[in-house]
Order: sequence, then structure tokens, then C-alpha cells
Amino acid sequence: MFYTIYDAIIFEAAKNGMKEEDVKKVLKKKGLTSKDVGLLKNNCTTLLPEELLSIIFIEFGLTKLKIDLMLGNIPKEYEKSYLNNISEIANLLEKEKTEKRKSKKKSKIEFKTDRGKLYHADCLEILPQIQDNMVDLIFADPPFNLKKEYANGRSDDLTISEYINWSKKWLDECVRILKPGGSLYIYNIPKWCVYYATYLNSKLFFQNWIAIDMKNSFPIKDKYTPSHYGLLYFTKGVKAKTFNKQRLPIQTCRHCGGEYKDYGGYKYKMNVLGVNIADVWYDIFPVRNGKNRLYNELSVKLLDRIISFSSNEEDLILDPFGGSGTTYAVAELLNRKWIGIELGDCKVIKNRLLSPEKDKELLKKVNEEKNVLFTKKSIKLRKKNGYWLPKEE
Ligand SMILES: C[S@@+](CC[C@H](N)C(=O)[O-])C[C@H]1O[C@@H](n2cnc3c(N)ncnc32)[C@H](O)[C@@H]1O
Repeated sequence: MFYTIYDAIIFEAAKNGMKEEDVKKVLKKKGLTSKDVGLLKNNCTTLLPEELLSIIFIEFGLTKLKIDLMLGNIPKEYEKSYLNNISEIANLLEKEKTEKRKSKKKSKIEFKTDRGKLYHADCLEILPQIQDNMVDLIFADPPFNLKKEYANGRSDDLTISEYINWSKKWLDECVRILKPGGSLYIYNIPKWCVYYATYLNSKLFFQNWIAIDMKNSFPIKDKYTPSHYGLLYFTKGVKAKTFNKQRLPIQTCRHCGGEYKDYGGYKYKMNVLGVNIADVWYDIFPVRNGKNRLYNELSVKLLDRIISFSSNEEDLILDPFGGSGTTYAVAELLNRKWIGIELGDCKVIKNRLLSPEKDKELLKKVNEEKNVLFTKKSIKLRKKNGYWLPKEE
């Protein structure tokens, strides 16, 4: 399947031995500017004159209908005949089906603890070796395809179609190996979460799109400043088999301790364990770790929240994109079993798991700041500034 007309054209042209550079030359010859090519690459073709599009399609042996089908769309006017002929279409496609071979290969484990094993490999090599319905919780933080440098030598600059088609492969495996009632969380920028959610909607049950407030966001011309990461939360089946609800302190000003929201007459009746966690998370901060910059380390607090909400002790957790190993480090400390995979260098993960003191310290702090109505710091500030506190404070 393709996700841009440009990618579909490149595919069609390749059948006739044309390379992308040749296609660009043809497009230029037909009158497309580089800005027009940008429109084709970004699915903004409604801005291109229809006649020009028709000329291009004819040049590459395509039609509007063929393009729609290549993008996975059945135009409304063909829907009825498509549905009426579904058996023939299915037969035709099944004839072509290539046997999906399950890899029998056993990959070598790079590092092992009593609770988990880490593979130094491509996740698309390891995931097919895992049995169906095995894993209680999956957390995935893939590369965002933002032309970043990773320690694994792979390109982080794929076309939209390449990136989504690659993602669909590991998503399919995640869906297969997840236990009934198990949870899948995916962390990415909204641009990709939109595609992921659309794809997963036909396979898993959508629970939440959690917005994780970005602390360092930069303005972009002609656009609202992107200032959240998406954290998709899906379950296999309508209900999660595990959802260990926890609470958070009220959000307060770090200078004066005053609460941001007005709880009005309800403040004296509030649960002393804090407030329910909503789907906008303001309290997750980026990890400042110059040395591990290449690994895009996420915070222990984020993984603690996901793991403790959506799994129990001894459950099996999988993260196909290890990075610096935050998921595995937190899984160890929370007594979960885990499977880890990392394509790049695994030294950072191994060292982290061998010396867990820093993560233990971080986790201790995270625990102090949950299931309480106010943090110790905000209690001090509130006392000083005469703000209300629950009776026992
Ligand atoms: C965004 S980072 C994950 C960071 C991680 N969540 C943490 O807290 O440290 C993505 C990682 O996935 C790895 N990666 C990319 N493609 C992969 C693949 N096909 N299989 C396994 N790992 C891959 C990259 O090398 C990178 O370390």
C-alpha cells in the first residue's frame, strides 16, 4: 500500500526500469515545479490542476482509479461493485499470496537477567519468533523518521510509504503476540500516530490518545507549535485485563504552590490520594543525558506509569525498540519479565541493567510523587503562602 501519490508513481515507474531521478526529470518536463513535486509527496494534490495530474498519470500508465486503489481507497462510486465482487477479488489476491514463512531461526541472546532477555537484532527478525498471545504489555517508541542520527546506522529518512509500511509490519507482529486483554502503547509524534491509530482501529480496541506535553517545543512557520507527543493506548479486546489505577498530585505552581485549577467548594472533599490521571500528561520531562543523546532515552516516570498501570508483577513486557533500555530497567525494578530488542549498540542497556542504582533512585522519587494530593515540595510552599491543605497536613 502507498501513502502518497508520489510513492505510487515511483513504484509504477520502477516497473519500467525508471529510477526516482528519471521520474523527477519527466515530472519537470511535464511542467511541474519542485514545489508541485512537494505537493505530490505530501498528498496535497488537490492544489494541482486536474489536467496536469491527468497528463502525469497517463505518462506513467496510471488512472485516478488505479491511484486510489494503490492508496487503499475504494472511491464511493465503485464501492457497490467492489463489495458485490469481493469473492472474485479475494480469490484473485489469494492466488498471488506468497506463503508467509515463520522464521525457525533462534536468534542469539545478547544479554540476560533472571527476568529478561535482550536481543541485539532487528525487531522484524525477533518478533516473528515469539508465539501468539504471549505478551501482557507492549511499549514501542520507534524512531520518528525525522532524519535523526541513530547508533544503528539505519536511515531515519524514509518516504511516508516506506515508514508506514515498515511500521505496519512490526505493528502486525505486536498485535499477534499480545495476550487477549493485553495493552499496546505506542509513543510517536502526532503525524505518525494518526496513521498508526487508523491502522490499529481495525485490529485492536482504541482506549486513549494521550498527549504528553513537550517541554522544548519550537515555533514552526505557518503552523501551531507542535507541543505534544502522542501516546496511543490500545487493548486486545474491549477491556484491558489489567488497569491498576493510580492517582497524581494536584498540579500546582512551582513558585507559590497555588493550584492551577479551581476546585471550588470540592477542594475539601478531595481524595487525599490525589486526582485521577487524565489523557494529557504535563508531568513527564525529557531526560537530560548528553552522553546517551543518541539513544533518545525516555523518562523512568513515563515507563513506571505505563508499566504499573497496565501490568502486574511477573507479567511479560516487550519493547521492540530498546534505545537506552528504560523499559527494561523499569520492568526489572517493578518485578516484571521482559523481552528487549535493539538494533544498535546494546552496551548502554547492559551497563544500565548491571548498575541499577540511578534508576532505583529515580523510581523512588517517582513513587513519592504519586498517590498523594500534594507533593512534599508543594505542601511546604502552600503552608508558607497560606493555601488550603487536607486536614492531616
Ligand atoms: C527512540 S529510540 C528508543 C528509546 C527508548 N524508548 C529509551 O527510553 O531509551 C528507538 C531505538 O530503536 C532502535 N531501532 C530502530 N530500528 C530498529 C529495529 N528495526 N529493530 C530494533 N531496534 C530498532 C534504534 O536504534 C533506537 O535505539
